[in-house]
Amino acid sequence: MAPAPATSSDYLDRLMRRESFQALWPLFALAPKPAKEMTESFSALVQLRPHMAELERCRVIHVGDGAHARTAALFAIKTDADNISVDPLVNERLVSEWRDRHEIRRFRWRKARIEDVIDELNALPAMPTVVTFVHAHVDVDAVLDRLRWDVAYTLACCVPGKQLTTTRTPHRDDEDLGVLSPDRRFQVLLAS
Ligand SMILES: C[S@@+](CC[C@H](N)C(=O)[O-])C[C@H]1O[C@@H](n2cnc3c(N)ncnc32)[C@H](O)[C@@H]1O
Repeated sequence: MAPAPATSSDYLDRLMRRESFQALWPLFALAPKPAKEMTESFSALVQLRPHMAELERCRVIHVGDGAHARTAALFAIKTDADNISVDPLVNERLVSEWRDRHEIRRFRWRKARIEDVIDELNALPAMPTVVTFVHAHVDVDAVLDRLRWDVAYTLACCVPGKQLTTTRTPHRDDEDLGVLSPDRRFQVLLAS
């Protein structure tokens, strides 16, 4: 049997070399496996960047972003996009203190299940919309069927049948060897 392809520390190296790492670290340090979480969020950024570069300005909705809104935080620091983290477990006190301490802009959250705020998100001023599902425990197709969106990134985890599309043809469907988690299959989806 052929050996499994080697994973790469490239994403960690790229993150840790930057001054912005100091601001991000307090959020990632709270995770049981910070390196895994950092590479998962960074994968979303790397895979979406070429698509975001084609959009003048965009909003990124981070679904299932956890209590510490880490992917939204990363995108707020590394991009010009408006970010909204959506998770019923958001620790609002912690993320608002972090935002204020580091003077982070374009970083908001909704402490809610995505299904319960889709109408509210669709009613926001029209803007190209990107969606991340970084190990989000949601049915990606069901969410995308209702949400207004243009580009989405999803990373599989323990429930791949739900977290990868089964009804759409992905623009990309691949493994990201920069992701330091057991399942590193991701998809980039483009709205038709
Ligand atoms: C495996 S965790 C992902 C954690 C996150 N990516 C991180 O870096 O910490 C799955 C997350 O999905 C969230 N979740 C589950 N159902 C959801 C729903 N219907 N809408 C939004 N988030 C949901 C959970 O609250 C949990 O925080």
